[in-house]
Amino acid sequence: MKFTKGNKSIRSKRSRAVLLTVCLLVISGLIAGCSKGPEEPNAPKLLLGFSQLGSESAWRIGNTRDIEEKAESYGVSLMLENANQKQENQIAAIRRFIAYKVDVIAFSPIVEEGWDNVLMEAKEAGIPVILVDRDISTENKDLTKCLIGADFYSEGLHAGEYLIRKADSLGLEHVNIVEITGTEDSTPMRQRQAGFMDAIKDDPRMEIIESINGDFLKSRGAECMRELLDKYGQDIDAVFSHNDEMTLGALPEIEEAGFEPGKDMIIISIDAGQEAIDVLKEGKINCVVECTPMLGSTLMETALKLKAGEEVDELIHPKEKLFSDEQDLSAMEPRGY
Ligand code: AHR
Repeated sequence: MKFTKGNKSIRSKRSRAVLLTVCLLVISGLIAGCSKGPEEPNAPKLLLGFSQLGSESAWRIGNTRDIEEKAESYGVSLMLENANQKQENQIAAIRRFIAYKVDVIAFSPIVEEGWDNVLMEAKEAGIPVILVDRDISTENKDLTKCLIGADFYSEGLHAGEYLIRKADSLGLEHVNIVEITGTEDSTPMRQRQAGFMDAIKDDPRMEIIESINGDFLKSRGAECMRELLDKYGQDIDAVFSHNDEMTLGALPEIEEAGFEPGKDMIIISIDAGQEAIDVLKEGKINCVVECTPMLGSTLMETALKLKAGEEVDELIHPKEKLFSDEQDLSAMEPRGY
């Protein structure tokens, strides 16, 4: 009996212990379910706030798409905001990212000036900032961790060097150039212009007869070209346009004015999106300098390193090419933007 009694009491003690263990396991499971710890298999590795400047071009749309796709493939949770070409919208988006306590902030500044205050707020909140595509102008170099974007100066330089080669091959004695620039005070506008000027400055044949702001937009490219044709007509020998979008806007205007782009006028563009490459193959554009929008992988890798407290390179330029009527382009891969 005692034994039985004793046996019964041991069994009931055991079953109470088992019950207690089960309860503890359930409770700890529930607690773990509520906290979003990094050990959770589906938890995002990183929360990244990205302010895109707008959607003015096929380049920009391709860049946004690439960043979204790469965030997904790297397991990064992305808060994406489109500023619709307004600096104040970008500043407001960065403030929202700070309030939301994202791990890393990235943004493509529409212009270079005017970021110090908001970036100081990010710094005080301890959130690292990555510049994507474009640079800022500031005395305070530690407001951002790095810049991932094209070498715009080299793009302009290569465009100018191509023009000199083309003038040589055509035996031109004088070249009247019109320049359609991108958004005023933006890095690509400033740097492409500087590189182009440096390339042509020692060649006495080269003369920029007018430089006009087309804001990287197709509609503005058309307007600018109309204005330039009205003013200079057949005196224009070459058009240097800071992006494909404006070039594609300018071409129909040149044709409507009775000229053959690519023959009567040398056409040089930047970006190398699919549409411009197709037109280059048709012979209406002579040269397109590549500017790749595929910056997503580098952005994700850099943001993950920053979250892990690792050092990153201050300046990361993608490799870029030049496509022109000097080459056989028949086997070109699709551009993807
Ligand atoms: O900042 C990159 C430039 O911006 C691209 O050349 C242009 O197409 C875009 O809008």
